[in-house]
Amino acid sequence: MSRAIGLLAVFLALATPVLFARAQDFAIGTGIYDITGPAGQINMMGYANPSQTTLGIQQRLFARAFVIVDQLTGERVVYVNCDLAFVTQIVKDYVLKRLQTTYGSLYTASNVGLTGTHTHGGPGGYAEYVLFEVTSLGFVEDNFQAIVDGIFQSIRLAHETVRPAYLFGNVGELLDSNINRSPVAYDNNPASEKAKYTHNVDKDMTLVKIIDPAGNDMGMINWFPVHCTSMNNTNRLVTPDNKGYAEYLIEKDFAASTNSRFVAAFSSSNLGDVSPNTGGPFCMDGPNKDLPCDYATSTCPNDRGMPRTQSCHNRGPAGSNDRENNRIIGNNQYLKAKELYATARQPLLGRLHVRQQYIDLPNYYANVNGTSVKLCRPAMGFSFAAGTCDGPGFLNFFQGDTNPDHPFWDAIVGFIKEPSEELKACQFPKPILLPTGEVSRPHDWHPSIIDFQMFVVGTDLVIMIVPGELSTMAGRRLRDSVRKTLTDGGVISADALVVVSGLASTYTHYIVTFEEYQIQRYEGASTIYGPNSLAAYIEIFNKFAQSIIANTTLPQGPTPPDFYDRLIRLSPQPKEDLQQDGQAFGAIKRDVLGQYTAGSKVSVLFYGANPRNNFMTGSTFLEVQHWTGSTWQVVRTDNDYDTEFRWVPLHASDAEQFISDIDITWFTDASVARGQYRIQYYGHSRSATGVITPFTGLSSTFVVV
Ligand SMILES: *[C@@H]1O[C@H](CO)[C@@H](O)[C@H](O)[C@H]1NC(C)=O
Ligand SMILES: *[C@@H]1O[C@H](CO)[C@@H](O)[C@H](O)[C@H]1NC(C)=O
Ligand SMILES: *[C@@H]1O[C@H](CO)[C@@H](O)[C@H](O)[C@H]1NC(C)=O
Repeated sequence: MSRAIGLLAVFLALATPVLFARAQDFAIGTGIYDITGPAGQINMMGYANPSQTTLGIQQRLFARAFVIVDQLTGERVVYVNCDLAFVTQIVKDYVLKRLQTTYGSLYTASNVGLTGTHTHGGPGGYAEYVLFEVTSLGFVEDNFQAIVDGIFQSIRLAHETVRPAYLFGNVGELLDSNINRSPVAYDNNPASEKAKYTHNVDKDMTLVKIIDPAGNDMGMINWFPVHCTSMNNTNRLVTPDNKGYAEYLIEKDFAASTNSRFVAAFSSSNLGDVSPNTGGPFCMDGPNKDLPCDYATSTCPNDRGMPRTQSCHNRGPAGSNDRENNRIIGNNQYLKAKELYATARQPLLGRLHVRQQYIDLPNYYANVNGTSVKLCRPAMGFSFAAGTCDGPGFLNFFQGDTNPDHPFWDAIVGFIKEPSEELKACQFPKPILLPTGEVSRPHDWHPSIIDFQMFVVGTDLVIMIVPGELSTMAGRRLRDSVRKTLTDGGVISADALVVVSGLASTYTHYIVTFEEYQIQRYEGASTIYGPNSLAAYIEIFNKFAQSIIANTTLPQGPTPPDFYDRLIRLSPQPKEDLQQDGQAFGAIKRDVLGQYTAGSKVSVLFYGANPRNNFMTGSTFLEVQHWTGSTWQVVRTDNDYDTEFRWVPLHASDAEQFISDIDITWFTDASVARGQYRIQYYGHSRSATGVITPFTGLSSTFVVV
């Protein structure tokens, strides 16, 4: 008996899709497009550290799009995963405008879902609400356009490649890659609820594999909850962080074996309280240096015994070497995804269902313990300013208060007011630092009309597209509740995959459980609509589920405002590039050596210009070229993890012109082919009148032995 089951398992494992004789239910297209914005001058979105502006590229940022069409009903959805801190409403709205121009009414706010990986290493300034724009000094038009255009292009590519396809699901546990960074809040959840789980973060990766009927690999989407904060708030190179590194590795694997481009999306999930820095929180200085931080407050005493948040930092798996920390957490996700892809055999079949609504959250009444309770207008609590052990938060923002060089702050500081009694009562026990929902000058500081969306892909996959960061337990409650409704309603199977897909549509910060909210850690302080936010989220997604069961349509709700014409735009502008030492742009300032042993660092310095003059979208600022005996073959670009492209501006930031060096590094390792190499740099300079001129630089030839 057991032997027969074993043989059956072997047979299933080896079987091709032909086993599923039923016609493919879905047709699928995939697309990927570069969304890397200014690699110079622009504040990074995530840590809100004003001094963390872009100075080059570690790896590029991409949008990865999947169009899924129900072949029976013609219904379609677009799922896009972007290497961004989060998607914003203005990005979604302007992508939709582009889609409408090209495809009419085929793609809408309902069936287009845009999500972000939550990298903290991309340029900011693409949000419309004031609070998200403080450290970037407002809206950054060229970054916004690069993001909107790149997402649109990724969808266009996916649209153009739609063909019959099979979907398979899989789930597996990934250990040693995430920890809870606010366990004291998690611990306040009911004991009976905690007892259901082994870990205080979710360890499952959920994966969808996509292949065509001939068995060709097309792509994958997976979800695993972990912050993309492997690179800390001193990093200045554009990076998609740990998920971007995983995407890069797996796409590189398949590039060698498939003709069409394999697209791998590593999506965020209920990562609100989840850190990739698995070494845990330690004191960096003071009398407790190298000892664990205080458990409840995540602080460390200074020499006078005063508790300080800034001294407490989560250590990565490799200590304070962030490049290595990022590599390890990315590599772990890559290996697990590769394994789950290879062994995925749960076919996803059935009909496609889409529900989406805009909800005016501060005016939403949620049913809490049998009572109808109104959510709150947005407000940030005090712990928000302190930040987390992955990086101090908006404390820097307040230091900006006294900084005479912070024109944005000067422009808005007068608008902050005392919170109303009503707001204090509603947000209780949150001590309010910023009553963002009660300030609307120069325009709204925080969103009120929020975009909620859910895709049900057949009887086996539910994607809840969530505007914000749910904590671990909040995500579990949401998933369990919606799973039960849809299972009871006969829409999904008992073992369906149900995922929370985060940082989508409109950023609403965090959503923690009612019990976690009472503790007011950073995540609770940043749960902006008050203690009953999660109750509302669960109710809204359940209404979507009930509407699918009953086959009813839902009203779309109020349209979010468009602030495009009113946005503050004080971010640094590109300036004239000047030559130095009488040398042409692209001339060598410090050449490579003649010879390197494999494993050593190759470096070359060029006379260069601001990389913001041309983003080199879909291309590269650098090439490592290998002599094949007859031609120079490109073996590395600026998207490779072992290269670094650094912009070194030599003038103070307030000067009228830039004088720049470009520092290119290639970290070779033992696996590098021996032979002759050279490094090429592609730049663009800007004249006083704004004329952009391309140029290039070339190192001498060197030998790797
Ligand atoms: C941040 O990363 C840099 C580069 O890896 C490292 O030198 C520094 O120690 C890190 N800071 C903290 C607080 O871990
Ligand atoms: C609902 O009632 C339960 C049981 O009395 C209580 O533990 C819980 O805190 C209440 N929830 C809210 C949000 O008030
Ligand atoms: C759902 O309702 C639509 C009309 O609103 C109808 O065309 C469709 O057949 C219904 N589907 C089912 C399964 O009843």
